Amino acid sequence: MRVRNRKGATELLEANPHYVVLNPVDAKGKWRETFGNDHPIHIEVGSGKGAFITGMAKANPAINYIGIDIQKSVLSYALDKVLAADVPNIKLLWVDGSELTNYFADGEIDRLYLNFSDPWPKKRHEKRRLTHKSFLDTFKQILPEKGEIHFKTDNRGLFEYSLVSFSQYGMILKGVWLDLHASDFEGNVLTEYEQKFSSKGQVIYRVEAEFQ
Ligand SMILES: C[S@@+](CC[C@H](N)C(=O)[O-])C[C@H]1O[C@@H](n2cnc3c(N)ncnc32)[C@H](O)[C@@H]1O
Repeated sequence: MRVRNRKGATELLEANPHYVVLNPVDAKGKWRETFGNDHPIHIEVGSGKGAFITGMAKANPAINYIGIDIQKSVLSYALDKVLAADVPNIKLLWVDGSELTNYFADGEIDRLYLNFSDPWPKKRHEKRRLTHKSFLDTFKQILPEKGEIHFKTDNRGLFEYSLVSFSQYGMILKGVWLDLHASDFEGNVLTEYEQKFSSKGQVIYRVEAEFQ
């Protein structure tokens, strides 16, 4: 998803340092201090316009959330939602998910969410998929032993690719949902893409995978 540049996005992000961590390199190894408590930290890589991460933060006040997106304008729309929600347990980062080891110490993150990641269907773009082995190397490093990735998508091709990628990496698939919205899964928080695709009748897939 490419979003048109939003006028004033930089100024908006810079004006809200309480929510937007502009120098995340300095926070490496100190995220619990940054939040001011010892609560678990869950991140979403590719958080888009922020409906999921904000909804999760509202629903789970004893968990700290960090929304990460590579596009500044997109992150500024997420900030609108965070400001409206006015909750203390959320931060936003404008960084590339492939560089997370620059911003998080080993094992500093307790869970990682991927939602409706760009599918990059062409084989020559495989390395850009967020469930490619090279991203799993990065994610494994910042998660604890047996750390988990929770992944949702409407894209069957990316879902099947990711199941194979997780399995080949030696991860355990703790749960697989082939039609999340028709299942008895409780507490699902919808993302913007999920709202859009499910309203068109598309099936939503979900997997929970655990590093070994
Ligand atoms: C298709 S959108 C989905 C947004 C949101 N998760 C949702 O479900 O509505 C994918 C998002 O991932 C972001 N993204 C793509 N590659 C990324 C990367 N390497 N690091 C961080 N964010 C990335 C994009 O900028 C975009 O906002």
